[in-house]
Amino acid sequence: MSDPPGDNVLVTGALGQIGTDLLEALRIKHGLSSVIASDIRHSEGNKIAEDGPFVVLDVLETEEIIRVCIDHGVGTVYHLAALLSATGERDPDLCRKVNVGGTVSVLEAAKECSLKVFSPSSIAVFGPDAPKHALQDSILNPTTVYGETKVTGEALAKDYRNKYGVDVRGIRYPGLISYKAPAGGGTTDYAVEIFHSALGSGHYQCFVRPDTRLPMLYMEDAITATLTLMDAPSESLGIWKAGYNIPCLSFTAKELAEAISRRIEGFSCDYSPDVRQRYADSWPDSIDGSIAHREWDWSPNFDLDEMVDAMISGISRG
Ligand SMILES: NC(=O)c1ccc[n+]([C@@H]2O[C@H](COP(=O)([O-])OP(=O)(O)OC[C@H]3O[C@@H](n4cnc5c(N)ncnc54)[C@H](O)[C@@H]3O)[C@@H](O)[C@H]2O)c1
Repeated sequence: MSDPPGDNVLVTGALGQIGTDLLEALRIKHGLSSVIASDIRHSEGNKIAEDGPFVVLDVLETEEIIRVCIDHGVGTVYHLAALLSATGERDPDLCRKVNVGGTVSVLEAAKECSLKVFSPSSIAVFGPDAPKHALQDSILNPTTVYGETKVTGEALAKDYRNKYGVDVRGIRYPGLISYKAPAGGGTTDYAVEIFHSALGSGHYQCFVRPDTRLPMLYMEDAITATLTLMDAPSESLGIWKAGYNIPCLSFTAKELAEAISRRIEGFSCDYSPDVRQRYADSWPDSIDGSIAHREWDWSPNFDLDEMVDAMISGISRG
């Protein structure tokens, strides 16, 4: 493979929930001008994106990705552009197009320009056939289109590694809880929305049942996991590097509401499940991240109480 155009970093889908936090962390790590943010949307009003270079970029345009990488001396791409589960199930064709087509475009650019790639997967790769505590090698049989696109993304990553030597790494992110950007249309959005409602009106109508238990993680932990995986020496990473289960939290919607009630007097939550309950029910309650822990030595810092404290103080600061 040829040398990459440079050492700079490109983030696709940078205006989204993860991109907003990851961009900030990458710019602290590499320097403002070394990290190029991109999204299909314009950056107006997004202070973090506007602090450094930003380009409008549709991830379905392979030639444009290549041009941006050459023009900006990019060597590593964090590929976050995607449609999430709830949005994706409403428009399955667009979900396949953006999630699978976008990943192919980025991997093609990586093959052409010798780029290193982070391409996230999701716990949505699992379906009802997987055990409720899903292992790294549990069967991948999702019942959502979004989940299918993530299984395909992991397969594409392996293919480009085996056939073309592209270094592609990924994490099966659980539901991510953060306050800097709104959640992007996923099934686990309730775990973010609940904080804004608690601090706003003091009431939340939750769209899943109180006993819904899912794997979750505070965003700061997801960002350190991502950076740790990307910094790990290649030799330490085994066959799962395109989609690692990682150690994370596991709590029910009711446990989350109770933890918030202990801190915000008078907060109330009722439950009115909608179609997203079906997606949540098809996913595991928790995942085993011991292979990731062993191969690249990462574990989360925030437990449920610490995450709730951090969310309340983050939102309160504005
Ligand atoms: N947030 C979570 O809880 C979570 C959990 C598991 C996996 N993930 C995965 O992490 C990645 C990022 O998720 P997120 O929560 O930041 O999503 P998000 O919806 O908040 O952001 C996605 C961004 O992609 C952009 N985008 C959409 N189509 C595009 C296109 N054609 N070209 C360029 N940009 C486009 C959107 O404008 C948006 O800013 C996705 O792959 C998602 O599947 C997220």
